[in-house]
Amino acid sequence: MLDTVLIIDFGSQVTQLIARRIRELGVYCEVKNPDFSLSEIKKLNPKAIIFSGGPSSVYEKGAPTIDKKIFDLGAPILGICYGQQLICHLLGGKVGKAHEREYGKAEIDITSSVSLFKSVKNKQVWMSHGDRVDEIPASFKVIAKTDSAPFAAISDEKRKVYGVQFHPEVVHSLDGKKIIENFVIKIAKCKPNWDMKNFKLEQITEIKKIVGKKRVICGLSGGVDSSVVAALINEAIGKQLTCIFVDHGLLRKNEGKEVKEVFTKNFKINLIYVDAADLFLSKLKGVTDPEKKRKIIGKTFIEVFDAESKKIKDADFLAQGTLYPDVIESSHPSGGKSQTIKSHHNVGGLPKNMKLKLLEPVRMLFKDEVRLLGKELGLPSFVVGRHPFPGPGLAIRVIGDITLEKIKILQEADAIYIEEIRKAGLYDKIWQAFSVLLPVKTVGVMGDGRTYENVLALRAVNSVDGMTADIYPFTAEFLCRVTSRIINEVRGINRVVYDYTSKPPGTIEWE
Ligand code: XMP
Repeated sequence: MLDTVLIIDFGSQVTQLIARRIRELGVYCEVKNPDFSLSEIKKLNPKAIIFSGGPSSVYEKGAPTIDKKIFDLGAPILGICYGQQLICHLLGGKVGKAHEREYGKAEIDITSSVSLFKSVKNKQVWMSHGDRVDEIPASFKVIAKTDSAPFAAISDEKRKVYGVQFHPEVVHSLDGKKIIENFVIKIAKCKPNWDMKNFKLEQITEIKKIVGKKRVICGLSGGVDSSVVAALINEAIGKQLTCIFVDHGLLRKNEGKEVKEVFTKNFKINLIYVDAADLFLSKLKGVTDPEKKRKIIGKTFIEVFDAESKKIKDADFLAQGTLYPDVIESSHPSGGKSQTIKSHHNVGGLPKNMKLKLLEPVRMLFKDEVRLLGKELGLPSFVVGRHPFPGPGLAIRVIGDITLEKIKILQEADAIYIEEIRKAGLYDKIWQAFSVLLPVKTVGVMGDGRTYENVLALRAVNSVDGMTADIYPFTAEFLCRVTSRIINEVRGINRVVYDYTSKPPGTIEWE
């Protein structure tokens, strides 16, 4: 049985970071909303509980709260920011408005040598709150303060209930990770036994139990998430799984072939490979608007997938590579606002009217954990380490209208760019690198002749989640080498430029 930390999400923008920090310690945790009932909590049997921060004020009508009996369960509790205020509010303290919103760095003065602060050397923490605790409940004592916050950290050592006004989960709280570690490992005594091998075996048992003798369909795109899901389910139920790979002809050079090979040869998976390149190209003919391209591709993908999946009789489940950030976002008390920003990205979303039950075995994992699981399952590193690739593929990297010829030119050029990145040992240091074919012709000279061909843009960025990004600073020598190879080896391109735009203001893709 895994030791579990339960995080109750009161709406903070950084709740996910609390989960990340705990998983980094090798301890399993789950994030739930405040409406997760006491009986459900008892069933989960957490060894420690964390109340996250949140934008509300405890006195506000409808402010999120929690059943007071949670304090009787015996699991140590740590409240962060709003979590701390809620603890005080529920246990008889007082919360008031800070004179102004406190935001930014602060220095804590640790006034009591409690285990929560063991080995905490750097005292810089990050504050971000409107309300603050004015009076602490009788059983509590102050364990740290700042110049402006007399109750920066409080504790009831007997009950093992702690509250901090600052955010230990963010990197600006320099020893914040240590504080979380002290709470989870030292105080709550959670064993760090969450690893991928463990997870894999557990999931295999779980999948077998859920699926029984039924059949599962899985849409395979060649990307990390769907590949890992397919390999995992295959290991659990083998031939009861059928994967459908819709090749829209807009993949990178040889990608379709590679995916087919890995899954049929290495994994012996039942794979239906649908070569739908002609269909997609004909539907995209003459279309230049990026959003129209996305819609056409999304709709066509669903049509093709639907037609193929109908051929698989008695399928009961549809497997999807949903990840934990999507799960948290869509159930976030803010109503999953950030979800809408991404929804246009989910091309390849599946038919809503399919009467299949969803099977989402990696819904509790973060991206880097999915990669580790992929390795554990024996997927080749070029699959698990692959840069993110958009669902509409090269359609949004050929600016303007799309033709087979342009796709081929882009595939060739991009393959050279990526090959050079790999040769220079940079592939794993970059989050996403790709080329964009521009609908602009420029004059060039080659040998004795004049050329009049297209411009290619190279892009490489580093990012954590794709929401913001910095450009990758290649050396001039590297860029010259790539440029010269592309112009010499790819007919149709006579000029190469490098994109220096970060996100924001630019987006990562050009369309
Ligand atoms: P942008 O261009 O919005 O991209 O800065 C952020 C990340 O999302 C990927 N992206 C997409 N992924 N369908 C997808 O599946 C899309 O339509 C799409 N558009 C952008 C992009 O490659 C980057 O990783």
